[in-house]
Amino acid sequence: MSGEDEYRIQNLKGFREFLPEESKARNEVFEKISEVVESYGFREIGTPSLEPMDLYLIKSGEELVEQTYSFEDKGGRQVTLPPEETPTRARMVKENKDLTKPIKWYSFSKFWRYENPQKGRLREFYQVNIDIFGEDSINADAEILAVAADILDALDLEEAAELRINDRNLMEGIIQAYGIEDSLVEEILDVIDDKEKMDREEFLVQLQELGLSRENAKVVDELTEIRGRFEGVLPKVENLIPDKEESEKAFERIKKLKGKLEQYGVLDRCKLDLSIIRGLDYYTGLVFEIFDKKGDLRALCGGGRYNDLIQLFNGPETPAVGFAIGDAVLEELMKREGVWPEEEFETDVYVLNVSEDVRPKAVELANELRAKGYVVETDLSGRNFGNQMDYANQINAENLVIVGEKDLGQDQVTVKDMDSGEEEKVNLDDFADYF
Ligand code: HAM
Repeated sequence: MSGEDEYRIQNLKGFREFLPEESKARNEVFEKISEVVESYGFREIGTPSLEPMDLYLIKSGEELVEQTYSFEDKGGRQVTLPPEETPTRARMVKENKDLTKPIKWYSFSKFWRYENPQKGRLREFYQVNIDIFGEDSINADAEILAVAADILDALDLEEAAELRINDRNLMEGIIQAYGIEDSLVEEILDVIDDKEKMDREEFLVQLQELGLSRENAKVVDELTEIRGRFEGVLPKVENLIPDKEESEKAFERIKKLKGKLEQYGVLDRCKLDLSIIRGLDYYTGLVFEIFDKKGDLRALCGGGRYNDLIQLFNGPETPAVGFAIGDAVLEELMKREGVWPEEEFETDVYVLNVSEDVRPKAVELANELRAKGYVVETDLSGRNFGNQMDYANQINAENLVIVGEKDLGQDQVTVKDMDSGEEEKVNLDDFADYF
């Protein structure tokens, strides 16, 4: 490298930068999500940006651990940039024993995964995580799903996206009922989880490679094609349910869930979809994802029930249910639907100093307005009148305060409404009250 090239250091693949307008748009979306979540009584928490690597070895699953940014720090510890927040939360719940239950938490944080950067998948991204701890009831499942559905509403995505819901216990039961060995079930679920990434033949072959007969592989294929509105799909699923306690319990839960979703008024945005499995290892029952209805994009949200994770951290038995929405797919979908905010900056007042001599007065007036809560800019570069006017236009100033010697001689300034172009002389004594 030589000359200019030495300084041309590009940002890393899969890492984004946001200009002010882009940041503002993102914050506006996050704010809309916060409003929904807070209206249900979820409270915001904060979590570390670096964790001991061991935290993810417990139950996040091999694939996620392989994707982490992990390294040895200067103290010789193996540390990881969090790829997700669920293990951190499990630890927090375990360590704060006196929290009132149910514990309802949310947060917006950055996460890192060393994935192949592509549409909707980056190496650094935001997630909003929303979880309820200490409650195993179907009410909690329904409330979590209702929050997710309400977020879609608040972002004007109720027509564009839908929740796809399943239960891992239900799937395990159904698969076992076809005489498929228990030891194979987990691996079959992993293949189902990857189904969307392959064609039918590849799917069948992968199942056969696990030891399934062609016949049984086809059964699993048909099973995972079952999806639709609860009322239509439930009877189909009922026919497949084996005479086993676990599966019957899971089916009962799903049936009751339908009623609860109706109570929350979100059933119309939910589908039962037997192909939803979730890649993370800690889910124990309900699982769900949100997809765009056209099916062009990756999942924009994933979650479910994970009743064992806190115990795995040596904590007390604490059922949990929750989900995370990622910002990357959300932005793609909102842009496609034309509902991503188009942000422009506005400035309440630009205080223009006609010459260097009146700069102190301009600064004083600007401070007065800032103290009243207005967004105010003044010249920093000694620009002339015309250039300051141009700048005031570029920053969309709503008002202009022109500070010049002649006006000041009469204890006045000129105030201009930039929209109408109207100008007015304002006495300095009245200035503070004018705005
Ligand atoms: P997840 O499915 O791994 O679940 O991620 C949730 C969402 O985060 C995905 O649906 C996607 O929108 C976004 N996401 C994941 N990886 C990436 C990436 N590389 N680039 C951009 N966006 C991504 C979890 O993380 C669970 N911890 C969620 C949860 C909370 N379960 C219970 N509580």
